[in-house]
Amino acid sequence: MVKICGIGAGYVGGPTMAVIALKCPEIEVTVVDISHSRIAAWNSDHLPIYEPGLEQVVQQCRNKNLFFSTDVEKHVAEADIIFVSVNTPTKSRGLGAGKAADLTYWEGAARVIAEMSKSNKIVIEKSTVPVRTAEAIERILTHNSNGVSFQILSNPEFLSEGTAIEDLLNPDRVLIGGRQTPEGLLAIQTVKDIYAHWLPEDRIITTNLWSAELAKLADNAFLAQRISSINAMSALCEATGAEVSEVSHALSKNSKLGPRFLNASVGFGGSCFQKDILNLVYISESNGLTEVANYWKQVIQMNDYQKDRFVKRVISSMFNTVSGKKIAILGFAFKKDTSDTRKTPSIDVCKGLMGDDAYLTIYDPRVSEDQIRRDLSLNSTVEWDHPIHLQPTISPSTMKQVRIVKDAYEATKDAHGICILTEWDEFKSLDYQRIFDNMQKPAFVFDGRNILNVGRLREIGFIVYSIGKPLDPWLRP
Ligand code: NAD
Ligand code: UDX
Repeated sequence: MVKICGIGAGYVGGPTMAVIALKCPEIEVTVVDISHSRIAAWNSDHLPIYEPGLEQVVQQCRNKNLFFSTDVEKHVAEADIIFVSVNTPTKSRGLGAGKAADLTYWEGAARVIAEMSKSNKIVIEKSTVPVRTAEAIERILTHNSNGVSFQILSNPEFLSEGTAIEDLLNPDRVLIGGRQTPEGLLAIQTVKDIYAHWLPEDRIITTNLWSAELAKLADNAFLAQRISSINAMSALCEATGAEVSEVSHALSKNSKLGPRFLNASVGFGGSCFQKDILNLVYISESNGLTEVANYWKQVIQMNDYQKDRFVKRVISSMFNTVSGKKIAILGFAFKKDTSDTRKTPSIDVCKGLMGDDAYLTIYDPRVSEDQIRRDLSLNSTVEWDHPIHLQPTISPSTMKQVRIVKDAYEATKDAHGICILTEWDEFKSLDYQRIFDNMQKPAFVFDGRNILNVGRLREIGFIVYSIGKPLDPWLRP
Protein backbone atom coordinates (compact mmCIF):
# COMPACT_ATOMS: atom_id res chain seq x y z
CA MET A 1 0.00 0.00 0.00
CA VAL A 2 1.34 3.43 -0.97
CA LYS A 3 1.69 5.64 2.08
CA ILE A 4 1.19 9.39 2.08
CA CYS A 5 2.14 11.59 4.99
CA GLY A 6 0.65 15.10 5.15
CA ILE A 7 2.66 17.42 7.39
CA GLY A 8 0.44 20.21 8.78
CA ALA A 9 -3.18 19.60 9.80
CA GLY A 10 -4.52 23.11 9.15
CA TYR A 11 -7.01 24.65 6.72
CA VAL A 12 -5.10 23.21 3.76
CA GLY A 13 -3.51 20.00 5.08
CA GLY A 14 -6.65 18.65 6.77
CA PRO A 15 -9.19 19.00 3.92
CA THR A 16 -6.68 18.22 1.15
CA MET A 17 -5.47 14.98 2.69
CA ALA A 18 -9.05 13.98 3.60
CA VAL A 19 -10.15 14.33 -0.04
CA ILE A 20 -7.14 12.34 -1.30
CA ALA A 21 -8.05 9.58 1.20
CA LEU A 22 -11.68 9.68 0.04
CA LYS A 23 -10.79 9.39 -3.63
CA CYS A 24 -7.89 6.91 -3.28
CA PRO A 25 -9.07 4.14 -0.96
CA GLU A 26 -5.99 2.03 -1.74
CA ILE A 27 -3.65 4.73 -0.37
CA GLU A 28 -3.02 5.14 3.37
CA VAL A 29 -2.98 8.82 4.31
CA THR A 30 -1.73 10.06 7.68
CA VAL A 31 -1.88 13.74 8.60
CA VAL A 32 0.64 14.78 11.24
CA ASP A 33 1.03 17.99 13.21
CA ILE A 34 3.11 19.27 16.09
CA SER A 35 -0.06 20.71 17.66
CA HIS A 36 -1.52 18.08 19.98
CA SER A 37 -4.77 19.98 20.40
CA ARG A 38 -5.32 20.19 16.62
CA ILE A 39 -4.72 16.47 16.14
CA ALA A 40 -6.98 15.62 19.09
CA ALA A 41 -9.71 17.74 17.47
CA TRP A 42 -9.27 15.99 14.09
CA ASN A 43 -9.76 12.69 15.94
CA SER A 44 -12.91 13.95 17.71
CA ASP A 45 -16.45 14.93 16.76
CA HIS A 46 -15.47 18.61 16.82
CA LEU A 47 -13.10 19.18 13.93
CA PRO A 48 -10.68 22.08 14.44
CA ILE A 49 -11.96 23.97 11.40
CA TYR A 50 -15.41 24.59 9.99
CA GLU A 51 -15.84 23.80 6.28
CA PRO A 52 -19.13 22.77 4.67
CA GLY A 53 -18.95 19.04 3.78
CA LEU A 54 -15.66 18.38 5.62
CA GLU A 55 -17.19 16.43 8.49
CA GLN A 56 -18.84 13.95 6.12
CA VAL A 57 -15.59 13.32 4.21
CA VAL A 58 -13.61 12.81 7.43
CA GLN A 59 -16.26 10.51 8.87
CA GLN A 60 -16.18 8.31 5.75
CA CYS A 61 -12.40 7.76 5.80
CA ARG A 62 -11.12 8.30 9.33
CA ASN A 63 -9.48 5.20 10.81
CA LYS A 64 -9.96 3.37 7.48
CA ASN A 65 -7.33 4.95 5.25
CA LEU A 66 -7.16 8.41 6.88
CA PHE A 67 -5.34 8.90 10.18
CA PHE A 68 -4.35 11.91 12.29
CA SER A 69 -1.27 11.69 14.49
CA THR A 70 1.32 13.74 16.38
CA ASP A 71 4.03 11.14 15.69
CA VAL A 72 5.63 13.18 12.91
CA GLU A 73 8.89 11.19 12.83
CA LYS A 74 7.26 7.76 12.48
CA HIS A 75 4.91 8.70 9.66
CA VAL A 76 7.53 10.69 7.79
CA ALA A 77 9.87 7.68 7.97
CA GLU A 78 7.20 5.31 6.64
CA ALA A 79 5.86 7.51 3.83
CA ASP A 80 6.53 7.21 0.10
CA ILE A 81 5.06 10.64 -0.63
CA ILE A 82 5.05 13.63 1.74
CA PHE A 83 2.81 16.67 1.27
CA VAL A 84 4.02 19.64 3.32
CA SER A 85 1.17 22.06 4.17
CA VAL A 86 2.70 23.95 7.09
CA ASN A 87 2.06 27.65 7.66
CA THR A 88 4.29 30.18 5.87
CA PRO A 89 3.35 33.51 7.50
CA THR A 90 4.91 36.90 6.87
CA LYS A 91 8.18 37.28 8.80
CA SER A 92 7.65 39.47 11.85
CA ARG A 93 11.33 39.98 12.80
CA GLY A 94 14.76 40.23 11.24
CA LEU A 95 15.73 40.50 7.60
CA GLY A 96 12.70 41.11 5.38
CA ALA A 97 10.37 41.55 8.40
CA GLY A 98 6.86 42.56 7.36
CA LYS A 99 7.27 41.29 3.80
CA ALA A 100 9.29 38.10 3.33
CA ALA A 101 7.79 34.67 4.02
CA ASP A 102 8.81 33.07 7.30
CA LEU A 103 9.99 29.61 6.30
CA THR A 104 10.84 28.45 9.85
CA TYR A 105 8.04 25.87 9.86
CA TRP A 106 8.93 24.61 6.40
CA GLU A 107 12.58 24.30 7.34
CA GLY A 108 11.60 22.43 10.52
CA ALA A 109 9.58 19.96 8.46
CA ALA A 110 12.41 19.54 5.93
CA ARG A 111 14.90 18.78 8.70
CA VAL A 112 12.65 16.04 10.13
CA ILE A 113 12.27 14.55 6.64
CA ALA A 114 16.03 14.62 6.13
CA GLU A 115 16.70 13.03 9.49
CA MET A 116 14.03 10.32 9.44
CA SER A 117 14.15 9.15 5.82
CA LYS A 118 15.65 5.72 5.14
CA SER A 119 13.96 5.24 1.76
CA ASN A 120 13.51 7.40 -1.37
CA LYS A 121 10.68 9.92 -1.17
CA ILE A 122 8.71 12.46 -3.14
CA VAL A 123 8.42 15.68 -1.10
CA ILE A 124 5.69 18.05 -2.19
CA GLU A 125 5.38 21.76 -1.45
CA LYS A 126 1.67 22.30 -0.81
CA SER A 127 2.25 25.43 1.26
CA THR A 128 2.55 28.70 -0.65
CA VAL A 129 6.24 29.55 -0.75
CA PRO A 130 8.55 32.10 -2.37
CA VAL A 131 9.74 31.15 -5.84
CA ARG A 132 12.89 28.98 -5.67
CA THR A 133 12.10 27.61 -2.19
CA ALA A 134 12.41 24.10 -3.61
CA GLU A 135 16.08 24.78 -4.21
CA ALA A 136 16.64 25.60 -0.52
CA ILE A 137 14.63 22.55 0.54
CA GLU A 138 16.65 20.34 -1.80
CA ARG A 139 19.83 21.60 -0.12
CA ILE A 140 18.56 20.73 3.36
CA LEU A 141 17.41 17.29 2.24
CA THR A 142 20.46 16.32 0.22
CA HIS A 143 22.85 17.65 2.86
CA ASN A 144 21.49 15.13 5.38
CA SER A 145 20.39 12.47 2.95
CA ASN A 146 22.18 9.27 4.13
CA GLY A 147 22.17 8.09 0.52
CA VAL A 148 18.38 8.51 0.20
CA SER A 149 17.12 10.28 -2.93
CA PHE A 150 14.41 12.97 -2.81
CA GLN A 151 12.34 14.47 -5.59
CA ILE A 152 10.90 17.88 -4.68
CA LEU A 153 7.68 18.93 -6.40
CA SER A 154 5.57 22.06 -6.16
CA ASN A 155 1.85 21.34 -6.02
CA PRO A 156 0.33 24.58 -4.70
CA GLU A 157 -3.21 24.56 -3.35
CA PHE A 158 -5.90 26.80 -4.83
CA LEU A 159 -8.83 26.03 -2.52
CA SER A 160 -10.81 28.87 -0.95
CA GLU A 161 -12.03 28.67 2.61
CA GLY A 162 -15.76 28.15 2.93
CA THR A 163 -15.80 26.09 -0.28
CA ALA A 164 -12.69 23.96 0.33
CA ILE A 165 -14.32 20.56 -0.19
CA GLU A 166 -16.16 21.63 -3.33
CA ASP A 167 -12.92 23.20 -4.66
CA LEU A 168 -10.90 20.05 -3.92
CA LEU A 169 -13.45 17.70 -5.47
CA ASN A 170 -13.88 19.83 -8.56
CA PRO A 171 -10.92 22.18 -9.05
CA ASP A 172 -10.46 24.32 -12.17
CA ARG A 173 -6.99 22.84 -12.37
CA VAL A 174 -4.26 21.11 -10.40
CA LEU A 175 -0.73 22.37 -10.87
CA ILE A 176 2.34 20.14 -10.49
CA GLY A 177 5.84 21.52 -11.02
CA GLY A 178 9.02 19.48 -10.90
CA ARG A 179 12.53 19.07 -12.21
CA GLN A 180 12.54 18.32 -15.93
CA THR A 181 14.88 15.31 -15.42
CA PRO A 182 13.82 11.66 -15.91
CA GLU A 183 13.50 11.27 -12.10
CA GLY A 184 11.64 14.59 -11.78
CA LEU A 185 9.21 13.69 -14.58
CA LEU A 186 8.58 10.28 -12.99
CA ALA A 187 7.76 11.96 -9.67
CA ILE A 188 5.38 14.37 -11.47
CA GLN A 189 3.64 11.39 -13.08
CA THR A 190 3.26 9.66 -9.68
CA VAL A 191 1.47 12.67 -8.21
CA LYS A 192 -0.54 13.14 -11.40
CA ASP A 193 -1.78 9.55 -10.96
CA ILE A 194 -3.15 10.43 -7.52
CA TYR A 195 -5.25 13.31 -8.86
CA ALA A 196 -6.27 11.27 -11.90
CA HIS A 197 -8.37 9.15 -9.50
CA TRP A 198 -11.05 11.86 -9.76
CA LEU A 199 -9.93 14.47 -12.28
CA PRO A 200 -9.66 14.37 -16.07
CA GLU A 201 -6.10 14.60 -17.36
CA ASP A 202 -6.59 17.97 -19.04
CA ARG A 203 -7.20 19.61 -15.67
CA ILE A 204 -3.78 18.58 -14.38
CA ILE A 205 -1.14 21.04 -15.54
CA THR A 206 2.54 20.23 -15.26
CA THR A 207 5.36 22.80 -15.33
CA ASN A 208 8.88 23.35 -14.14
CA LEU A 209 9.35 23.92 -10.41
CA TRP A 210 9.77 27.69 -10.47
CA SER A 211 6.72 28.30 -12.69
CA ALA A 212 4.51 26.34 -10.28
CA GLU A 213 5.83 28.22 -7.26
CA LEU A 214 5.42 31.60 -8.94
CA ALA A 215 2.03 30.77 -10.49
CA LYS A 216 0.55 30.35 -7.00
CA LEU A 217 1.78 33.77 -5.86
CA ALA A 218 0.63 35.29 -9.14
CA ASP A 219 -2.81 33.68 -8.78
CA ASN A 220 -3.47 35.26 -5.40
CA ALA A 221 -2.00 38.59 -6.50
CA PHE A 222 -4.30 38.72 -9.56
CA LEU A 223 -7.39 37.86 -7.50
CA ALA A 224 -6.59 40.45 -4.84
CA GLN A 225 -5.81 43.00 -7.54
CA ARG A 226 -9.32 42.55 -8.97
CA ILE A 227 -10.87 43.23 -5.57
CA SER A 228 -8.71 46.33 -5.05
CA SER A 229 -9.64 47.49 -8.55
CA ILE A 230 -13.38 47.23 -7.93
CA ASN A 231 -12.95 48.78 -4.48
CA ALA A 232 -11.13 51.72 -6.08
CA MET A 233 -14.13 52.04 -8.43
CA SER A 234 -16.49 51.96 -5.42
CA ALA A 235 -14.93 55.17 -4.06
CA LEU A 236 -15.35 56.78 -7.45
CA CYS A 237 -18.97 55.58 -7.62
CA GLU A 238 -19.77 57.24 -4.32
CA ALA A 239 -18.24 60.48 -5.56
CA THR A 240 -20.08 60.48 -8.89
CA GLY A 241 -23.46 58.81 -8.35
CA ALA A 242 -22.54 55.69 -10.32
CA GLU A 243 -23.47 52.40 -8.66
CA VAL A 244 -20.73 49.83 -8.17
CA SER A 245 -22.91 46.73 -8.57
CA GLU A 246 -24.08 48.04 -11.96
CA VAL A 247 -20.47 48.71 -12.95
CA SER A 248 -19.49 45.16 -11.81
CA HIS A 249 -22.40 43.67 -13.71
CA ALA A 250 -21.37 45.46 -16.89
CA LEU A 251 -17.77 44.29 -16.46
CA SER A 252 -18.84 40.73 -15.69
CA LYS A 253 -20.54 40.41 -19.09
CA ASN A 254 -17.24 41.07 -20.85
CA SER A 255 -16.02 37.56 -21.62
CA LYS A 256 -12.46 38.88 -21.47
CA LEU A 257 -13.00 39.74 -17.79
CA GLY A 258 -15.46 37.13 -16.51
CA PRO A 259 -17.89 37.45 -13.60
CA ARG A 260 -15.97 36.52 -10.45
CA PHE A 261 -14.13 38.60 -7.84
CA LEU A 262 -15.92 41.78 -8.73
CA ASN A 263 -17.79 42.33 -5.46
CA ALA A 264 -16.86 45.61 -3.85
CA SER A 265 -16.39 45.18 -0.11
CA VAL A 266 -15.00 46.69 3.05
CA GLY A 267 -11.72 45.05 1.95
CA PHE A 268 -10.30 41.60 1.41
CA GLY A 269 -9.10 39.52 4.34
CA GLY A 270 -7.89 35.98 4.92
CA SER A 271 -4.52 34.46 5.59
CA CYS A 272 -3.34 34.44 1.98
CA PHE A 273 -3.80 37.56 -0.13
CA GLN A 274 -1.84 40.12 1.86
CA LYS A 275 0.90 37.71 2.87
CA ASP A 276 1.42 36.41 -0.65
CA ILE A 277 1.50 39.88 -2.23
CA LEU A 278 3.99 41.08 0.38
CA ASN A 279 6.03 38.01 -0.47
CA LEU A 280 5.87 38.94 -4.17
CA VAL A 281 6.90 42.51 -3.34
CA TYR A 282 9.89 41.23 -1.38
CA ILE A 283 10.99 38.86 -4.13
CA SER A 284 10.67 41.66 -6.71
CA GLU A 285 12.73 44.05 -4.58
CA SER A 286 15.34 41.37 -3.93
CA ASN A 287 15.69 41.04 -7.70
CA GLY A 288 16.05 44.82 -8.14
CA LEU A 289 12.59 45.15 -9.72
CA THR A 290 11.41 48.25 -7.86
CA GLU A 291 8.62 49.14 -10.31
CA VAL A 292 7.20 45.62 -10.12
CA ALA A 293 7.32 45.74 -6.32
CA ASN A 294 5.58 49.14 -6.23
CA TYR A 295 2.87 47.94 -8.61
CA TRP A 296 1.85 45.05 -6.35
CA LYS A 297 2.27 47.06 -3.15
CA GLN A 298 -0.48 49.34 -4.36
CA VAL A 299 -2.99 46.45 -4.22
CA ILE A 300 -2.50 46.24 -0.44
CA GLN A 301 -2.49 50.00 -0.02
CA MET A 302 -5.84 50.22 -1.80
CA ASN A 303 -7.17 47.51 0.55
CA ASP A 304 -6.03 49.47 3.60
CA TYR A 305 -7.57 52.62 2.13
CA GLN A 306 -10.90 50.82 1.72
CA LYS A 307 -11.00 49.69 5.37
CA ASP A 308 -9.92 53.12 6.57
CA ARG A 309 -12.48 54.82 4.32
CA PHE A 310 -15.24 52.64 5.80
CA VAL A 311 -14.30 53.57 9.39
CA LYS A 312 -14.17 57.26 8.49
CA ARG A 313 -17.55 57.01 6.74
CA VAL A 314 -19.15 55.51 9.87
CA ILE A 315 -17.68 58.18 12.13
CA SER A 316 -18.40 61.13 9.84
CA SER A 317 -21.99 59.98 9.21
CA MET A 318 -22.69 59.76 12.92
CA PHE A 319 -22.01 63.47 13.51
CA ASN A 320 -18.23 63.05 13.48
CA THR A 321 -18.04 60.96 16.60
CA VAL A 322 -18.94 57.46 17.77
CA SER A 323 -17.66 58.13 21.26
CA GLY A 324 -19.98 56.44 23.75
CA LYS A 325 -22.26 55.21 20.97
CA LYS A 326 -23.21 51.59 20.59
CA ILE A 327 -22.31 50.04 17.25
CA ALA A 328 -23.48 46.53 16.36
CA ILE A 329 -20.93 44.56 14.37
CA LEU A 330 -22.54 41.80 12.32
CA GLY A 331 -19.89 39.36 11.11
CA PHE A 332 -16.30 38.91 12.22
CA ALA A 333 -15.00 36.05 9.99
CA PHE A 334 -13.06 37.19 6.89
CA LYS A 335 -15.81 35.74 4.65
CA LYS A 336 -18.98 33.68 5.08
CA ASP A 337 -19.00 29.94 5.79
CA THR A 338 -15.75 29.93 7.72
CA SER A 339 -14.75 30.53 11.33
CA ASP A 340 -11.36 31.84 10.21
CA THR A 341 -10.55 35.39 11.29
CA ARG A 342 -7.00 35.70 10.00
CA LYS A 343 -6.52 39.22 8.60
CA THR A 344 -10.28 39.77 8.64
CA PRO A 345 -11.20 43.39 7.81
CA SER A 346 -13.40 43.28 10.94
CA ILE A 347 -10.29 43.58 13.12
CA ASP A 348 -9.25 46.85 11.49
CA VAL A 349 -12.76 48.27 11.41
CA CYS A 350 -13.46 47.36 15.06
CA LYS A 351 -10.12 48.79 16.17
CA GLY A 352 -10.75 51.95 14.16
CA LEU A 353 -14.14 52.43 15.85
CA MET A 354 -12.72 51.60 19.28
CA GLY A 355 -10.05 54.20 18.59
CA ASP A 356 -12.91 56.74 18.53
CA ASP A 357 -14.30 55.28 21.78
CA ALA A 358 -17.30 53.36 20.41
CA TYR A 359 -19.02 50.59 22.37
CA LEU A 360 -19.12 47.49 20.17
CA THR A 361 -21.55 44.58 20.33
CA ILE A 362 -20.29 41.86 18.04
CA TYR A 363 -22.11 38.85 16.62
CA ASP A 364 -20.74 36.21 14.27
CA PRO A 365 -22.48 32.86 13.73
CA ARG A 366 -19.22 30.85 13.74
CA VAL A 367 -16.46 32.77 15.49
CA SER A 368 -16.02 32.17 19.22
CA GLU A 369 -15.92 34.93 21.84
CA ASP A 370 -12.36 33.94 22.81
CA GLN A 371 -11.19 34.28 19.23
CA ILE A 372 -12.73 37.74 18.80
CA ARG A 373 -11.26 38.98 22.08
CA ARG A 374 -7.84 37.59 21.17
CA ASP A 375 -7.94 39.22 17.74
CA LEU A 376 -8.93 42.61 19.12
CA SER A 377 -6.52 42.69 22.03
CA LEU A 378 -3.42 41.42 20.23
CA ASN A 379 -1.18 44.08 18.80
CA SER A 380 -0.73 42.86 15.28
CA THR A 381 2.81 43.07 14.05
CA VAL A 382 3.41 46.37 12.35
CA GLU A 383 3.70 45.55 8.72
CA TRP A 384 5.99 47.51 6.56
CA ASP A 385 4.35 50.35 4.71
CA HIS A 386 1.05 49.91 6.51
CA PRO A 387 -0.83 52.82 7.97
CA ILE A 388 -0.47 52.18 11.68
CA HIS A 389 -3.55 54.27 12.52
CA LEU A 390 -5.66 51.38 11.28
CA GLN A 391 -4.35 49.29 14.13
CA PRO A 392 -4.37 51.36 17.33
CA THR A 393 -3.27 49.53 20.45
CA ILE A 394 -6.35 48.50 22.37
CA SER A 395 -5.99 48.82 26.12
CA PRO A 396 -7.66 46.38 28.54
CA SER A 397 -10.03 49.15 29.64
CA THR A 398 -11.14 49.78 26.02
CA MET A 399 -11.72 46.02 25.67
CA LYS A 400 -14.38 46.42 28.37
CA GLN A 401 -16.36 48.39 25.75
CA VAL A 402 -16.71 45.22 23.67
CA ARG A 403 -19.51 42.69 24.15
CA ILE A 404 -19.81 39.49 22.14
CA VAL A 405 -23.38 38.22 21.84
CA LYS A 406 -25.22 35.20 20.51
CA ASP A 407 -27.55 36.71 17.92
CA ALA A 408 -28.08 39.67 15.64
CA TYR A 409 -31.18 40.95 17.48
CA GLU A 410 -29.32 41.14 20.78
CA ALA A 411 -26.37 42.83 19.05
CA THR A 412 -28.53 45.54 17.49
CA LYS A 413 -30.78 46.28 20.50
CA ASP A 414 -30.36 49.94 21.53
CA ALA A 415 -27.57 50.39 18.97
CA HIS A 416 -27.02 53.69 17.18
CA GLY A 417 -25.59 51.97 14.11
CA ILE A 418 -24.99 48.58 12.48
CA CYS A 419 -21.93 47.56 10.47
CA ILE A 420 -22.26 44.49 8.25
CA LEU A 421 -18.72 43.15 7.92
CA THR A 422 -19.21 39.54 6.75
CA GLU A 423 -21.68 38.46 4.07
CA TRP A 424 -23.33 35.67 6.12
CA ASP A 425 -26.60 34.61 4.43
CA GLU A 426 -28.56 34.92 7.68
CA PHE A 427 -27.97 38.70 7.73
CA LYS A 428 -29.98 39.05 4.51
CA SER A 429 -33.17 37.67 6.02
CA LEU A 430 -33.21 39.37 9.42
CA ASP A 431 -36.39 41.26 10.43
CA TYR A 432 -35.04 44.77 9.87
CA GLN A 433 -38.31 46.41 10.94
CA ARG A 434 -37.95 44.72 14.35
CA ILE A 435 -34.29 45.74 14.47
CA PHE A 436 -35.15 49.37 13.60
CA ASP A 437 -37.85 49.51 16.27
CA ASN A 438 -35.32 48.48 18.92
CA MET A 439 -32.53 50.87 17.92
CA GLN A 440 -31.64 54.44 18.90
CA LYS A 441 -32.71 57.05 16.33
CA PRO A 442 -31.57 58.10 13.86
CA ALA A 443 -30.66 54.49 13.09
CA PHE A 444 -27.74 53.86 10.73
CA VAL A 445 -26.76 50.81 8.66
CA PHE A 446 -23.30 50.58 7.08
CA ASP A 447 -23.29 47.62 4.71
CA GLY A 448 -19.64 46.68 4.07
CA ARG A 449 -20.64 43.71 1.91
CA ASN A 450 -23.51 45.11 -0.18
CA ILE A 451 -25.87 42.29 0.81
CA LEU A 452 -28.88 44.31 1.97
CA ASN A 453 -31.77 45.87 0.10
CA VAL A 454 -30.99 49.57 0.49
CA GLY A 455 -34.40 50.77 -0.79
CA ARG A 456 -36.31 48.59 1.68
CA LEU A 457 -34.12 49.70 4.60
CA ARG A 458 -34.66 53.37 3.71
CA GLU A 459 -38.41 52.78 3.60
CA ILE A 460 -38.20 51.43 7.14
CA GLY A 461 -36.42 54.62 8.19
CA PHE A 462 -32.74 53.65 8.31
CA ILE A 463 -29.98 55.95 7.07
CA VAL A 464 -28.03 53.58 4.87
CA TYR A 465 -24.49 53.52 3.52
CA SER A 466 -23.67 50.68 1.14
CA ILE A 467 -20.20 50.51 -0.44
CA GLY A 468 -20.08 52.14 -3.86
CA LYS A 469 -23.80 52.99 -4.00
CA PRO A 470 -25.30 56.46 -4.39
CA LEU A 471 -25.13 58.19 -1.03
CA ASP A 472 -28.12 58.59 1.23
CA PRO A 473 -29.31 62.25 1.07
CA TRP A 474 -28.43 62.43 4.79
CA LEU A 475 -24.80 61.51 4.04
CA ARG A 476 -24.22 63.79 1.04
CA PRO A 477 -21.71 66.56 1.65
P1 NAD B 1 -2.56 26.56 9.23
O1 NAD B 1 -1.85 27.45 10.16
O2 NAD B 1 -4.04 26.39 9.36
O3 NAD B 1 -1.93 25.08 9.33
C1 NAD B 1 -0.57 24.81 9.36
C2 NAD B 1 -0.32 23.67 10.34
O4 NAD B 1 1.04 23.25 10.21
C3 NAD B 1 -0.51 24.07 11.82
O5 NAD B 1 -1.49 23.22 12.41
C4 NAD B 1 0.88 23.87 12.45
O6 NAD B 1 0.83 23.39 13.78
C5 NAD B 1 1.49 22.84 11.51
N1 NAD B 1 2.95 22.80 11.52
C6 NAD B 1 3.84 23.82 11.45
N2 NAD B 1 5.10 23.37 11.44
C7 NAD B 1 5.03 22.02 11.52
C8 NAD B 1 6.00 20.98 11.52
N3 NAD B 1 7.30 21.25 11.43
N4 NAD B 1 5.57 19.70 11.64
C9 NAD B 1 4.24 19.42 11.70
N5 NAD B 1 3.28 20.36 11.68
C10 NAD B 1 3.66 21.64 11.59
O7 NAD B 1 -2.18 27.04 7.77
P2 NAD B 1 -3.05 26.85 6.42
O8 NAD B 1 -4.08 27.91 6.31
O9 NAD B 1 -3.46 25.42 6.31
O10 NAD B 1 -1.95 27.18 5.33
C11 NAD B 1 -0.88 26.30 5.07
C12 NAD B 1 -0.18 26.74 3.81
O11 NAD B 1 -1.07 26.65 2.69
C13 NAD B 1 0.32 28.19 3.81
O12 NAD B 1 1.53 28.25 3.10
C14 NAD B 1 -0.76 28.93 3.06
O13 NAD B 1 -0.27 30.09 2.43
C15 NAD B 1 -1.17 27.91 2.02
N6 NAD B 1 -2.55 28.05 1.53
C16 NAD B 1 -3.56 28.35 2.39
C17 NAD B 1 -4.88 28.43 1.91
C18 NAD B 1 -6.02 28.76 2.84
O14 NAD B 1 -7.11 29.01 2.34
N7 NAD B 1 -5.85 28.76 4.14
C19 NAD B 1 -5.14 28.17 0.57
C20 NAD B 1 -4.07 27.85 -0.28
C21 NAD B 1 -2.78 27.78 0.21
C1 UDX C 1 -7.95 32.81 -1.56
C2 UDX C 1 -7.94 32.40 -3.04
O1 UDX C 1 -9.21 32.70 -3.62
C3 UDX C 1 -7.62 30.93 -3.16
O2 UDX C 1 -7.51 30.61 -4.55
C4 UDX C 1 -6.31 30.65 -2.47
O3 UDX C 1 -6.02 29.28 -2.54
C5 UDX C 1 -6.38 31.09 -1.01
O4 UDX C 1 -6.72 32.48 -0.95
P1 UDX C 1 -9.65 32.62 0.45
O5 UDX C 1 -8.77 33.66 1.06
O6 UDX C 1 -9.96 31.40 1.23
O7 UDX C 1 -9.02 32.13 -0.92
O8 UDX C 1 -11.06 33.30 0.06
P2 UDX C 1 -11.55 34.22 -1.16
O9 UDX C 1 -12.86 33.74 -1.58
O10 UDX C 1 -10.51 34.39 -2.19
O11 UDX C 1 -11.77 35.63 -0.43
C6 UDX C 1 -10.68 36.38 0.07
C7 UDX C 1 -11.19 37.72 0.59
O12 UDX C 1 -11.62 38.55 -0.50
C8 UDX C 1 -12.39 37.61 1.53
O13 UDX C 1 -12.27 38.55 2.57
C9 UDX C 1 -13.57 37.96 0.63
O14 UDX C 1 -14.67 38.47 1.34
C10 UDX C 1 -12.94 39.01 -0.26
N1 UDX C 1 -13.62 39.17 -1.56
C11 UDX C 1 -13.68 38.13 -2.44
C12 UDX C 1 -14.15 40.42 -1.93
O15 UDX C 1 -14.08 41.37 -1.15
N2 UDX C 1 -14.74 40.54 -3.15
C13 UDX C 1 -14.83 39.52 -4.04
O16 UDX C 1 -15.37 39.73 -5.13
C14 UDX C 1 -14.26 38.27 -3.68
